[in-house]
Amino acid sequence: MAANETIISPSLLSCDFSRLANELKALEEAGLKWAHLDVMDGMFVPNITFGPPVIKSMRKECNLFFDCHLMIEQPERYIQEFVDAGADLICVHAEATNHLERVVSAIADAGVKPAVSLNPATPLEEVRYLLPQLYMVLIMSVNPGFGGQKYIPFCTEKISELKQMINDSKAETLIQVDGGVTMDNCRELVEAGADVLVSGSAFFKFPPYAERHKKFIETCAGK
Ligand code: DX5
Ligand code: ZN
Repeated sequence: MAANETIISPSLLSCDFSRLANELKALEEAGLKWAHLDVMDGMFVPNITFGPPVIKSMRKECNLFFDCHLMIEQPERYIQEFVDAGADLICVHAEATNHLERVVSAIADAGVKPAVSLNPATPLEEVRYLLPQLYMVLIMSVNPGFGGQKYIPFCTEKISELKQMINDSKAETLIQVDGGVTMDNCRELVEAGADVLVSGSAFFKFPPYAERHKKFIETCAGK
């Protein structure tokens, strides 16, 4: 996977919500393939965003790969709703459920790509035995809840260790990094093993999106 081009998944949290459909179309026209959708419930994180009805409306506007990051307590309660809304990938937090394997299996059984997210202080051990079942592991590099926070430096070591763990287990799990990703640290994250980078503020504040995307890809590749 590392030899492939880095995937940039723009976090819609930093887009203009009053122009959501236009923003999705603009991403698609700019050549982006993924869109990162941050779902927050005001319980798991101290912020509330949007849920399945909004995602369902977004689904009608584009063909982007919907990378749904669920920052909600007991996500097992809502998997089918997110599948029906049009999620392509559902990422749940290890800290938000007592039965992680059950939720991961439920996502896969519903025909959607399963992923698990770990908060900065959560050890990698949480996902070790699940790697063969996981399409992706999300390493949170800020404490979830808000866009525009500063990258937590120890996360780079965590990415390298996860990469090693994935290689050792012969799984093909992708590594995603979310929070405080900028043009200044993206290369370092890819070198550590990241395959997918989420970017909110460092992406949407710098249109046009096609140029911003190109700059990210080139910087990640060391060009
Ligand atoms: C934080 C979210 C992130 C956030 C990233 O809880 O999961 O996806 O939008 O925003 P930036 O790139 O601005 O840190
Ligand atoms: Zn996110």
